[in-house]
Amino acid sequence: MMVLFTSCLCLWLGAWVSTASGLDFRYHNSVEVEQYLKAVNRNYSSLTYLHSIGKSVEGRDLWVLVLGKHPTEHKIGIPEFKYVGNMHGNEVVGRVMLLHLIELLTQGYGADPLVTHILNSTRVHILPSMNPDGFEASTRDCMFSEGRFNKHGVDLNRNFPDAFDWEEGEAREAEVRAVMDWLSSEPFVLSANLHGGAVVASYPYDNSNGGEEFKKGSSVAPDDDVFVHLAKTYSFSHAQMRKDNCDEARNFKDGITNGFYWYPLAGGMQDYNYVWAQCLEITLELSCCKYPPESDLPGLWEANKPALLAYMQQVHLGVKGQVLDSTGAPVQNALVEVKGRRNICPFRTDRNGEYYRLLLPGNYTFTVTVPGQEPERRNLSVPYGPERFSALTQNFVLERGSGGGAVPDPDAAEPTESCTALLQYQADGHAAALLRPRLLPLLALALCGLLL
Ligand SMILES: *[C@@H]1O[C@H](CO)[C@@H](O)[C@H](O)[C@H]1NC(C)=O
Ligand SMILES: *[C@@H]1O[C@H](CO)[C@@H](O)[C@H](O)[C@H]1NC(C)=O
Ligand SMILES: *[C@@H]1O[C@H](CO)[C@@H](O)[C@H](O)[C@H]1NC(C)=O
Ligand SMILES: *[C@@H]1O[C@H](CO)[C@@H](O)[C@H](O)[C@H]1NC(C)=O
Ligand SMILES: [Zn+2]
Repeated sequence: MMVLFTSCLCLWLGAWVSTASGLDFRYHNSVEVEQYLKAVNRNYSSLTYLHSIGKSVEGRDLWVLVLGKHPTEHKIGIPEFKYVGNMHGNEVVGRVMLLHLIELLTQGYGADPLVTHILNSTRVHILPSMNPDGFEASTRDCMFSEGRFNKHGVDLNRNFPDAFDWEEGEAREAEVRAVMDWLSSEPFVLSANLHGGAVVASYPYDNSNGGEEFKKGSSVAPDDDVFVHLAKTYSFSHAQMRKDNCDEARNFKDGITNGFYWYPLAGGMQDYNYVWAQCLEITLELSCCKYPPESDLPGLWEANKPALLAYMQQVHLGVKGQVLDSTGAPVQNALVEVKGRRNICPFRTDRNGEYYRLLLPGNYTFTVTVPGQEPERRNLSVPYGPERFSALTQNFVLERGSGGGAVPDPDAAEPTESCTALLQYQADGHAAALLRPRLLPLLALALCGLLL
């Protein structure tokens, strides 16, 4: 009797404590989100770092909370991961999920083994809202709202430079410029961008110009096997995604789709991340209703929680390491290519001489190239990194130093709007895909009424 009473009391107390100190399941406006992030940062000052990556058109800060054992700076061998929510201001579930994820990560560190492993091995960046102006302009409607766009009426997921459809001098919105600068300030490896209006994980490419990537209605990236695995990791870890269809007529096998196959779009964020910033990004559609009633939020959180964690763990796929010269100094801008993967912009080492290549388990031939030297080739047998919270570490030490060739331009490791400057010292003549004429995408886009 006594035992029963005590356990009831504990349950009751537990519930009381979690609602009193916890984040409630409702929609928080931009001021409340800022207050929440500042409170988290105060309470967990050694585990978190809060900064603004820029301002929206109406002057709202784009707050990013960074979490990890070393939140303020990059450490060699610790990959950078990010989640971006609410790019379409009226697609609000991702924004709520990311605030709850922040609560889970901070409260779980040191208590929950999975959370502790993730934050010890990864630096996690969370931007709960990329479009706070759009959020504030939104009405609680499932499908139609002004708030999709930013204050200038621009769809931010059409405003990035596009590898297949690129023009000099295109105008960029403030929110897009902030994200582009952010991408050049951190060597991000893996990312997801959270949307609503469907329940599916969509992966690059979103666009095509009818070149070698265009296959049977899909636009297939060189790392397609990795993207399919990443998308399935989310859909199979999610409570319903692999079987849920909002629209009976549309059936996403396994809860995933190639972006272009679903509907083509130019200027999207996931293609930009992948092609220009070496960061593999997928797009997660989390709810049929873009702005569901608050009573749906606890169930949405339970459905997404394991998937959000499992996806983060995938940052440890493949191989990572540094390219060093004979004196042990890091070599920036070395090309790190994997045989059979003709990336539009080849992957390069960053300012620390580091590279990360997400790959499924298997055997791969790596080629490291610097100007004025013979390419260095190595065969690697790659295990499944996520279960050990580390990719395979493989450094390349170049016998003759960084060589008598051209000194790499220090700015060239930044994501830019062109990677043509790199082609001159490329190993196998990859990548000339960029400068082909544009063909299909815009017509298809015009015919397609879908807006997700
Ligand atoms: C921060 O700590 C205070 C004092 O313990 C607590 O009342 C508050 O709920 C905490 N807030 C967050 C967001 O962790
Ligand atoms: C995480 O890192 C902390 C601090 O270095 C260490 O004490 C702890 O054992 C680590 N835990 C795990 C699960 O890696
Ligand atoms: C990879 O190579 C190793 C030998 O280095 C071999 O034992 C293994 O079977 C190979 N794996 C695959 C998937 O080809
Ligand atoms: C890598 O493996 C391939 C196929 O087994 C072989 O032909 C090649 O010589 C190997 N390359 C190196 C650098 O070991
Ligand atoms: Zn969207």
